Amino acid sequence: MLYRLVYVSTAREGLTDEEIGAILDVSQSNNHERYLTGFLAHNGRHFMQALEGAREEVDAVFSRILQDDRHFGVVQIVGEQITKRAFPDWAMNYFRADDPAVGTMVVRYNDPIDSLLPKDTPRELLHLFTRFLHIESLTP
Ligand SMILES: Cc1cc2nc3c(=O)[nH]c(=O)nc-3n(C[C@H](O)[C@H](O)[C@H](O)COP(=O)(O)O)c2cc1C
Repeated sequence: MLYRLVYVSTAREGLTDEEIGAILDVSQSNNHERYLTGFLAHNGRHFMQALEGAREEVDAVFSRILQDDRHFGVVQIVGEQITKRAFPDWAMNYFRADDPAVGTMVVRYNDPIDSLLPKDTPRELLHLFTRFLHIESLTP
């Protein structure tokens, strides 16, 4: 069964770009091995991550993520069975709203989020990430 999970969390105070780089390296190689796909958005303070794949794989990685002390206050906001992946080509893509240059995607400031995500991203997901990034980009 194909499953999608989305959560939000708060980054540990003082989390560095190097530490985020390390998270992405491990995530991309682990996820690639397990055919987990998804998207990680960050704004310097909060994370929002979508993870999709076989239910057992998503649950297993999420239980590790829950215990990771590089962030806290993890709240799952979506857990649903799906028939199709929203991010089939991304082992874990990363977008940082306060500094897009740090992300693995090449984007310009003020690019709307829907230009970053695959064209057929489900509307609810697009809405979630759009709200997350817009709310956060208003935070000083
Ligand atoms: C915000 C955030 C997102 C993460 N995303 C993933 C992920 O998509 N895949 C993954 O394998 N690990 C992810 N991790 C890292 C895991 O928590 C864990 O460190 C990693 O899977 C290695 O686990 P292990 O040390 O038990 O082998 C993430 C960590 C954080 C803080």
